[in-house]
Amino acid sequence: MIASQFLIAASAGSDVIKVFDPQSPQARAIFHLAIVAGIIFAVIFAIVAGMIVYALMRCRWREGEGDPKQVAGNTTVEIVWTLIPCLIVVALFALTWQTMDASDPPAAPEPDIVITGHQWWWEAHYPKSGVVTANEIHIPAGRPFSIRLESADVLHEFWVPQLARKMTTVPGHPNHIWIESDHPGTFLGVCSEFCGTEHAWMHFLIVAETPEQFQAWEKAQLTPAAAPPNDSAARGLALFQQMSCMNCHAIDGTAAIAGVGPNLTHFGSRKILGAGVVDNTRANLRRWLTDPQEVKPGAKMPNFKFTDSQVTELTDYIETLQ
Ligand code: CUA
Repeated sequence: MIASQFLIAASAGSDVIKVFDPQSPQARAIFHLAIVAGIIFAVIFAIVAGMIVYALMRCRWREGEGDPKQVAGNTTVEIVWTLIPCLIVVALFALTWQTMDASDPPAAPEPDIVITGHQWWWEAHYPKSGVVTANEIHIPAGRPFSIRLESADVLHEFWVPQLARKMTTVPGHPNHIWIESDHPGTFLGVCSEFCGTEHAWMHFLIVAETPEQFQAWEKAQLTPAAAPPNDSAARGLALFQQMSCMNCHAIDGTAAIAGVGPNLTHFGSRKILGAGVVDNTRANLRRWLTDPQEVKPGAKMPNFKFTDSQVTELTDYIETLQ
């Protein structure tokens, strides 16, 4: 079950988390430090383990041998084995300093996106344009984008290993990172700090686009929801407003303005549903509306026990929110 869910999510956008495939200057700096440090540690391990093995093989006690010659200190050796570790630590400190400079420059005065971690999804608000979306975060490729990270409830951790460092979201204490992609592409991100039942299904996608595509996306996101195209969808919208849906969700252009759950104004344009637990398809949307707890146990959306025809009407409406 878990494996199949993972594969479904994997097919939803990029594929799997890629820790060793940096696609931005910030992520590359971290990757290079990891490689250099890894080589240094491997060499130290090889020398220490080699000396132990050598001593075990060559210097073991044998029948009839007396004690070895006793040595009481050697100033040269003491200085050498104090100095070498000190130099290694100083070198690693310098490399780390350099990496921190490259991967984590000071915050911009005004963030390009404010991202808020919720149990268990991500809200993205673009203060400069007013766009609000969830779990699918678009950025223009080729330039650093400043992100302010907040939390609506508990500690989460925002992590797109191909594009940036990871950073904790703390309630009441905004944090900051820079995110960047060398080229257009879709990158999988995860929550990397345990935050409750559905921590594992707090995926998100970073969609890096050309500046023109990004501008077009922002413009499309700012348009209010289209009117229902047919009677069934119109009944879906009416249901949405009569039942409890609008207590939690917003759809711009309708009476629904709540911000507890994801903003659904352009839900149909997103690739994933339930923060990556399934692909955003009609069949999965029906499953979700029939019983969210079956799709994502523990999700904050309860089972409203809609009838089959109500599920169809709601699906007919929500699907059209492109
Ligand atoms: Cu949010 Cu783990």
